[in-house]
Formats: sequence, C-alpha cells, structure tokens
Amino acid sequence: MLLEIGIGGYTRKRRSGASLKMWRWFFPKARIVGLDIEDKSFLDGGHIQTYLGDQTDPEILRRIIDEEGAPLVVIDDGSHIPEHVRATFAILFPLLPDGAIYCIEDIQTSYWPARGGAVDPKASGTSMDLVKDLVDGLNHEELLVEGYESSYTDRHVKAVHCYHNLVVIEKGDNVEGSNRDTAAHTFHGSNDDPAHDDDEGTP
Ligand SMILES: C[S@@+](CC[C@H](N)C(=O)[O-])C[C@H]1O[C@@H](n2cnc3c(N)ncnc32)[C@H](O)[C@@H]1O
Repeated sequence: MLLEIGIGGYTRKRRSGASLKMWRWFFPKARIVGLDIEDKSFLDGGHIQTYLGDQTDPEILRRIIDEEGAPLVVIDDGSHIPEHVRATFAILFPLLPDGAIYCIEDIQTSYWPARGGAVDPKASGTSMDLVKDLVDGLNHEELLVEGYESSYTDRHVKAVHCYHNLVVIEKGDNVEGSNRDTAAHTFHGSNDDPAHDDDEGTP
C-alpha cells in the first residue's frame, strides 16, 4: 500500500488526484491511498481509495492502517507546516514495517516563517531539525554522550536521503553495534598525519 498525504486540486475536481493517478500508473498492482483535509471521495475506485481527515489526527491515520494495511511508501505532501510534518511522522513512522520508505515533500517550508518554519536554519522544532536529528541518530551507537538512551528513530531509521526540497527516510534495523573499541585500538596518529592511516577502514 502507498499512502499519500495531500491529494491536491483543492476545490477544482478535474485537477484533483494527479499524483494518486501517477502512483497508480507507476505501481499498477498497489493499493493507492490518499488522505486530505478536503473531501476527495470522487476519486475513489479501482485501486485508489481516499480518506477525509487531518494529517495530524492519530485516529484517522490509525484507521487507514487498520483498513488498508501498513503502507510500504508514505508521501507527506500535505500542509507542509513543520509542526504537522513532525506530528504526522511521529504517529506514522512507528506503524510502518521495516523496508518502508517515508518521503517528506516541499521541506523548504522549514525555512519559511510564513509556513510555520524559521529563518535560522539551525532553529529547533522545524521539519529539517527533525531530519538532522534522524541523521545524528544513524550513528547513535557511536555517541559518547554519557547516559545517552537511544530513541525509537535511532534504532529504526536505516538511511536518510536529503535532496533539494525532498527528504526520503528508510525504515529498518539500525542496531549494528559499534566498532569503537577496534577503532580506539588502531587509531594512534593525529587526524592530519597520513603516515598513520590504517587500512582497516577506521578513522
Ligand atoms: C500540495 S497539495 C498536494 C498535491 C498532490 N500531492 C500532487 O502532487 O498533485 C496539498 C494538499 O494537502 C491538503 N492538506 C492541507 N492541509 C492538510 C492537513 N492538515 N491534513 C491533510 N491534508 C491537508 C490540501 O487540501 C491539498 O489538497
């Protein structure tokens, strides 16, 4: 199942559902599900099923999964408001199976106050702030922060792909163990001394 949040077209029926139809063309055997805050039920039929609701409402997101199964692909192309993007991710990501991918479109709103973002690229609470936390979490087993406890996303985000205005997050097991002890053993030199490069792939 593929779930797209944000069906588009607003009130213009004939323009609605372009991306759902594109996904149906790309994945002819898949169930294509859309969620929108506007009623798009006129698109229902064949492999396409729409739901009416807010992307931050856990009830509708859980209902979709109960009725349609867990999605292997999620595309968040809804409000693009960072608070919504983060809330939707927090609800949906734990419900996805390993191997699923979660895409956040138009993540540039992270930098736009008029869309709920912040001018400071390092501001907290934005969509990109979430993404940067996920990137750090990829190396959670290497962190030397005393008392650090890994989060759910630390352990279940396998990869984060960042593109212009688009982020793709892969779900999977991210508990591999650290090579810290081996690395500490073989790393004798300073960072800028090529004579101390080792051949074991350690820093
Ligand atoms: C950018 S359009 C989606 C375009 C579509 N995915 C496409 O590529 O053709 C955004 C859609 O998100 C919907 N939307 C806005 N806020 C929403 C929310 N809080 N929950 C669900 N859908 C929302 C809008 O009604 C609109 O249809």
